[in-house]
Amino acid sequence: MSRPLPEPWRVKVVEKIHLLPREERERLLVEGGFSLFRIPSEAVFIDMFTDSGTSAMSDWQWAGVMQGDEAYAGARNFFHLQESIEDVFGFPHFLPVHQGRVAENLLFSALLTRPGMIVPNNCHFDTTRANVEANGGVAVDLVIPEGRDPEADHPFKGNMDISRLRRLFEEKREDIPVCMLTLTNNSGGGQPVSLANVKAVSGLCRSFGIPFYIDACRFAENAWFIKQREMGQGHRTVAAIAREVFSYADGCTMSAKKDGLANIGGFLASRDEELLERLKLRLIVIEGFPTYGGLAGRDLEAVARGLREVLDENYLRFRIGQVEGFGDMLTASGIPIMRPTGGHAVYVDARRLVPHIPPLQFPAQALSVALYREGGVRGVEIGSVMFGSEDPATGAVIPAPMELVRLAVPRRVFTNSHLEYVAGVLEDIAARRETLKGLRMTHAPKVLRHFTARFAEIEAEVEELVAVVA
Ligand code: F0G
Repeated sequence: MSRPLPEPWRVKVVEKIHLLPREERERLLVEGGFSLFRIPSEAVFIDMFTDSGTSAMSDWQWAGVMQGDEAYAGARNFFHLQESIEDVFGFPHFLPVHQGRVAENLLFSALLTRPGMIVPNNCHFDTTRANVEANGGVAVDLVIPEGRDPEADHPFKGNMDISRLRRLFEEKREDIPVCMLTLTNNSGGGQPVSLANVKAVSGLCRSFGIPFYIDACRFAENAWFIKQREMGQGHRTVAAIAREVFSYADGCTMSAKKDGLANIGGFLASRDEELLERLKLRLIVIEGFPTYGGLAGRDLEAVARGLREVLDENYLRFRIGQVEGFGDMLTASGIPIMRPTGGHAVYVDARRLVPHIPPLQFPAQALSVALYREGGVRGVEIGSVMFGSEDPATGAVIPAPMELVRLAVPRRVFTNSHLEYVAGVLEDIAARRETLKGLRMTHAPKVLRHFTARFAEIEAEVEELVAVVA
């Protein structure tokens, strides 16, 4: 009989978590304007807000932390990180940064040389989009159509739509300074990109002379999916697959807070030494000297070790299996989720779970409020709060293509019984879904509004009354 393998680690240190009484949770929701960003972490029971910076580090990483070399220049941990990046990705040059978005900012500040330049990507993550726009550019998402359909079954729903990319290159070659590909596609459900697709994007970029950079945050999870799902890849090591993926790129931006298994850190790696030389000056102004880039020596060491550890296939088998198992629990309880399950999170489809709440009343935000209210669980809205926009001509609000609540699974942190609890909370919510209320935005900043937006619940009776009076 084959039985699934349990966690390939044992627990050495624990951190206490606590479920506050319901009235307390209710008070915090109201005081925080129904924004989950405003709930203190200690008031959250099961925090599935993000898988970023929330990993449990291993004893090997903690041992490395003790060997942090805190010299201003040339710390030994910088050289360890250099070796890891060279071994894992094959990139000879890099700049360390304190987290991924700084790598994005540096890259786009150098490549977007005039307003209106276009950056294609399968899907830009929100900070990537914001950094393109902050540098005067236009971020274009060209994921395959299946990637926008929560129910479509496709092994690589993160793939770039090659024919649309080719058309864009043909029409706008002069305006495209760089093409990106996000592995896995976070904004599109944590869905992987196939090796064949990486190769095709790279080939197209080469033939048009456009630099090709990978957003590498979840590169190991992506490589695991390639090993599992892509024809002819099953016999290869994940490390070899990852090396091949990056061999097709000119460089990458990396948030080591994900597959670096670290709590902070990132880098911009490239084959273009001259580009990085130019960016060093800017790095010194905004982050620090190029051998530490805003990190302590001990942080560099944690990343140097995390990048190697994340390629452990027993770890990846458990990791991806745990997220998939969580998705299966929800599906078995009739909770609609994006299928197939992605690598780092389960994305609940709020449009189908609470169809009585229209997109402009933020159904996915309403569902995240319900998760906290009901069980002290924190997820993040990936819908019209995060990606809704305004028609520049008419000012009309355009809802996002999907209304999802992402329940991210931090690496090596929760056991399956934590996830069973969350599934139970969702089941209870689904049983009385009609009682969930839509939301109205009471504070809406222009850029990255989901971080600081606040809301009020729409009381159905009041709305009806207003309608009658009007
Ligand atoms: N790219 C992707 C695909 C990401 O998911 C993130 C972060 C970044 C870039 C930026 O990295 O946070 O280190 O500056 N995603 C986190 C999340 C915040 O919750 O998905 P960062």
